[in-house]
Amino acid sequence: MKKYRVFVTRQLFDEAIDIINKEAEVEVFEGTDNPIPRDLLLTKIKDIDGLLCLLTDIIDSEMIEKAKRLKVISNYAVGFNNIDVNEATKRGIYVTNTPGILTETTADFTFALLLAVSRRIAESDRYVRMGNWKYAWGPRMFLGSDVHGKTLGIIGLGRIGKALVKRAKGFDMKVIYYDIVRDESFEKSYGVSFQNLKTLLEEADFVSVNVPLTENTYHLIGEEEISLMKKTAFLINTSRGAVIDEKKLYNALKNKLIAGAALDVFDKEPIDPDNPLLELDNIIVTPHIASASVETRKNMAIIAAKNLVESLKGEEPANLVNPEAKKFRH
Ligand code: GLV
Ligand code: GLV
Repeated sequence: MKKYRVFVTRQLFDEAIDIINKEAEVEVFEGTDNPIPRDLLLTKIKDIDGLLCLLTDIIDSEMIEKAKRLKVISNYAVGFNNIDVNEATKRGIYVTNTPGILTETTADFTFALLLAVSRRIAESDRYVRMGNWKYAWGPRMFLGSDVHGKTLGIIGLGRIGKALVKRAKGFDMKVIYYDIVRDESFEKSYGVSFQNLKTLLEEADFVSVNVPLTENTYHLIGEEEISLMKKTAFLINTSRGAVIDEKKLYNALKNKLIAGAALDVFDKEPIDPDNPLLELDNIIVTPHIASASVETRKNMAIIAAKNLVESLKGEEPANLVNPEAKKFRH
């Protein structure tokens, strides 16, 4: 028998499971697409040393209290708002995530959404498939907005925000950003300028939200913020749904107070089929897939496995979210 027991909440890539197998007994939840039922996870967590989980698993204080031997919660995501990190810290449980590896992939997708919403790609694809393309070519058919030369406003200049800047530069965009911390050396190197949130919203032709979801960023973009945006501007969100007040965004899109939105994330995922957002044409919706490339999803699994194994072995894992937990480890 190996010393440690690990539970993995979804079938992942074999490469990742092999890494864990070398050090621990691994059990993988059998479901392929569905999250593990909470009741089952509440039972499983009781006698494991390591948990590899997804952002669909809510690891709150009730869950963590059950975990008598748990040493690490390795999240298969960069965001970790699904985990009560304070509770884990108090109990000396490491929390790890997968930053870095998904940055470029997520920035690619964010830029793809930006291009798609401004040039009406999804809407015109639907039009063609539905048999509505009746005239060969029209000077005013599906007019969109240019991307090149426009102003991109990035809210949250973290890894993904910075990767977005590089893409925007290739399109000769002017880039402004808002963040709680300034990065003056990045500003100088890339010719981007810091603005307060109000000015950013007023000046940007595209607003991209790239902040993590925390108490401070919940509904960061609400009615007032949206009302500051240009009527011709687009809002893009690949972070977390709750950073934007979805109902207020719906009103703004419906009343054409802004030109459009492209959303990969929602308040509730999966989105309800009767969510009124889905009735609008000036919006692109995708099912939380910004990091979903074959290469990146596999790499994320490997990183998550390594973080888990390093933690079990008492080493400091490469992507430790809560270094304060060290003092409480036993
Ligand atoms: C996905 O949303 C992630 O946080 O990695
Ligand atoms: C996430 O990886 C970020 O820091 O932007």
